[in-house]
Amino acid sequence: MSRVFEWVDERLNLRPLWRSVADHAVPAHITFWHCFGGITFLLMLMQVVTGIFLTMYYVPSPDHAYASVEYISQQVMFGRLIRGMHRIGASAAVITVVIHMMRVYFQGAYKKPRELNWIAGVGLLAVVLGFGFTGYLLPWDQKAYWATMVGTNIAASVPVVGSWVLRLLRGGTDLGAVTLTRFFSLHIWILPTLLFTLLGAHLFMVRRQGVAGPF
Ligand code: HEM
Repeated sequence: MSRVFEWVDERLNLRPLWRSVADHAVPAHITFWHCFGGITFLLMLMQVVTGIFLTMYYVPSPDHAYASVEYISQQVMFGRLIRGMHRIGASAAVITVVIHMMRVYFQGAYKKPRELNWIAGVGLLAVVLGFGFTGYLLPWDQKAYWATMVGTNIAASVPVVGSWVLRLLRGGTDLGAVTLTRFFSLHIWILPTLLFTLLGAHLFMVRRQGVAGPF
């Protein structure tokens, strides 16, 4: 492996790039509570990998969605494991991102000069919650259908723009085939694009500014 790296490095001079990204000593003031940003990052990677496997069998149509997830769980090799990892990973990411946010808040690590990174973080929180909300509908069972009915009705109660948001999410006034396609598109295209963009900015800022403290 190192010989492959040497070969590539000789041609592209990657070492300085690698050093600037990863070759830093961990600051002495880092605690257990500082691990939750990184844990959320690893969970997000796991969600991407398991999600890609799930899309190989999942069919986003009301006629086939439920049967396709049942097929994944019962017929596909390691399907139950992959699906379980994706489900548990989604819940775990919500827990770890909230712990990460609380660590940043209680240590005051959002204060100058890290305000922009806090704002990027708020975007990331919305993305993580958005993944959970849109993913919940995909199995298209009774629980998924009615939970999304309640969720989209809550969105409709927002003053002024509520009914517009409802129609945007459902793709009309009713919850049906268009809603499922829309949630699927959000889940596998729009939210991952936002995730990678915001995460890139977030980690770039952490690298540029260093981790706040010691307090
Ligand atoms: C997908 C979600 C997220 C990931 C993967 C992530 C990842 C990270 C990582 C790896 C760090 C550096 C070490 C650490 O403190 O853990 C960090 C720092 C930071 N994060 Fe996040 N984060 C996420 C969401 C958030 C949220 C929701 C907020 C707040 C609203 C936030 C605000 C910050 C701030 C201000 C820092 C700098 C803290 C410091 O310098 O001590 N992040 N994030």
